[in-house]
Amino acid sequence: MLPQGLMDALLNAERIVALTGAGISAESGIPTFRGSGGLWEGYPVEKVATVEGFERDPELVWRFYDERRRNIAAAKPNDAHIVLAKMERLYDFWVITQNIDGLHQKAGSRNVVELHGNIWRVRCTECGRVGYNYEVPLKEIPPRCEKCGGLLRPDVVWFGEPVYDIDKAYSLAENCDVMLVIGTSAQVYPAAYLPRLAWSRNAKIVEINPQETPVSRYADFIMRKMATEAMNEIYQELLRASQEERE
Ligand code: APR
Repeated sequence: MLPQGLMDALLNAERIVALTGAGISAESGIPTFRGSGGLWEGYPVEKVATVEGFERDPELVWRFYDERRRNIAAAKPNDAHIVLAKMERLYDFWVITQNIDGLHQKAGSRNVVELHGNIWRVRCTECGRVGYNYEVPLKEIPPRCEKCGGLLRPDVVWFGEPVYDIDKAYSLAENCDVMLVIGTSAQVYPAAYLPRLAWSRNAKIVEINPQETPVSRYADFIMRKMATEAMNEIYQELLRASQEERE
């Protein structure tokens, strides 16, 4: 059963935005960051996810990312990613993700804003050249730029760095009818501000997360479920509604 009123909100919406976090990829076997067993429990953030950490020990940072690349290369999109991709056929639909795993695109989503970059992209710290590297495992650690021989870094956003495409994200949040907030602890800014912004512009906020988060305080609808279960339920109901309309 969907929360009361959610189906009406979805059926009346023109533009829907999904803000996703690590929780949407958890059922694909990719660990989340916070909480017990989370990635940040095993690795000190300041060592592997800051510019200072990278400058101090690029090899350690690349070993951490090499391990994550192996994990992500083996992962497949789950039903939650797949349903979001299908929703692009029904709506003006956008995904804003904090994830760097590329699973939304693998599932078929095309309208994806990657706030925190992408784990398969590399950037030269000397000449700034950006490219893709899909080697798993990496042949050389730390990898070097083909053009200038400079040190490459993962093209992901570390703590203290500005996120990508924030203007696009703000504009989508300000101009959507429904925002699905899926699998994020909503603790990292500016991403965590997007649902609040959407809500202040009268979008309906739907939280999908087995745990309470700061978004729970103002969300219009809450589904305390795993992302795959909740998204399958939503999609089934949407299909049923569109069938009824045709009959
Ligand atoms: N379905 C839905 N939600 C889930 C599931 C699931 N199957 N499993 C876990 N969750 C929820 C957790 O309850 C938690 O609220 O996903 C959330 C994951 O939170 P975080 O690990 O903090 O991940 P995220 O919010 O994406 O972190 C934001 O922090 O460290 C940085 O750059 C990193 O992009 C990341 C950012």
